[in-house]
Amino acid sequence: MGGSPFDRHWFRQVLGQYPTGVCVVTAVTPAGARSGMVVGSFTSVSLDPPMVAFFPSAGSQTWPELSGASAFCVNVLAADQEPVARRFATAPAASRFDGVGARSSPAGAPLLDGVVAWIDCTPASVQAAGDHFVVLGDVTALGIESSKLPLLFFRGGYGSFSPLSFTASDAEGVLTRQLRCLDLVRPVLRRLPDSGLRCLVTTRSGDRVVVLGRLEPPAPEGATEPTALVGPEALSQPHGAAVFDAWGPGVDDRSARHHHPDAADRLALVRERGCALGPVEPPTLDDDALRAVETVTVPVLDADGDVVLAITADGFRQEPEAVREVVRMLRAYGDEATRLVRGRSLARS
Ligand SMILES: Cc1cc2nc3c(=O)[nH]c(=O)nc-3n(C[C@H](O)[C@H](O)[C@H](O)COP(=O)(O)O)c2cc1C
Repeated sequence: MGGSPFDRHWFRQVLGQYPTGVCVVTAVTPAGARSGMVVGSFTSVSLDPPMVAFFPSAGSQTWPELSGASAFCVNVLAADQEPVARRFATAPAASRFDGVGARSSPAGAPLLDGVVAWIDCTPASVQAAGDHFVVLGDVTALGIESSKLPLLFFRGGYGSFSPLSFTASDAEGVLTRQLRCLDLVRPVLRRLPDSGLRCLVTTRSGDRVVVLGRLEPPAPEGATEPTALVGPEALSQPHGAAVFDAWGPGVDDRSARHHHPDAADRLALVRERGCALGPVEPPTLDDDALRAVETVTVPVLDADGDVVLAITADGFRQEPEAVREVVRMLRAYGDEATRLVRGRSLARS
């Protein structure tokens, strides 16, 4: 799809495909007032000498205030600071700091509590560029405040960062194998949100089912839902957790030990179907039963035939043909994912 660069909507839409961090540029004006505005256009420019830049709009009412200050501080917001971003982007200038803790940075500008990092600058140059200014700053001091993930802005919504290697989110290193597999099956997972489905990837760690990844269909413009969120986080109601018991060595022993009398039948159904259906595994797949299906979960098997990941899809239309199609699709994706991790192909009984 293409379009004209002079179509404002199209320009925004295309540039919205590029994610940015979210910063609050703060300063104390010559009159002694604290001033701040949200920018996504912050970037590092030069290492020697250390310089950064951001691009305030010519229409901004805050920039004229900020530009009068002798120093400014770029506050890099953390993923849990979306309310701070909203406040500084939309609240009247006079009340933006209300309820937001801050101390003075070395340059004397407001350094907000809870940020990831801060960069103190003195203005080096301001150049007009179309309907914005290019502001270059000489960096005078800078610091890291916390190991929190940064807040991101993408396709009109806020979100957070999910590392491609995922190692950063597994501080204890207990899920390295599963996370490696998740990386390998990523191309398959991406097709789910493209088909308008929500996708959840889980694994079992000890006796817990934990979420490794979550992919949402593209958010409509202006929506704030994140498109991807990565744990690991424990799941209170494990979706399709039956797949973890349905395959793998010694599966029958395990099911007999851990489950109520119906469980063995249920696991046999899951094996036969090649997927677990939720919230309740229906004994038969007639149209009424299919209308009640909210989630479809397939396993990804490792070389030992054990379930290394489970892929759950939801957000589909609860109509028999739509559910059948999701089941067909997920099974194919599960098989493909299993091939990608060089797992043992799934034997459906
Ligand atoms: C995520 C995000 C990024 C933004 N990035 C910029 C930016 O780079 N430059 C800019 O001038 N305004 C940016 N804005 C808009 C400003 O924060 C602010 O809403 C706008 O400048 C109007 O307020 P003002 O008149 O007080 O400046 C951004 C807003 C959001 C929510």
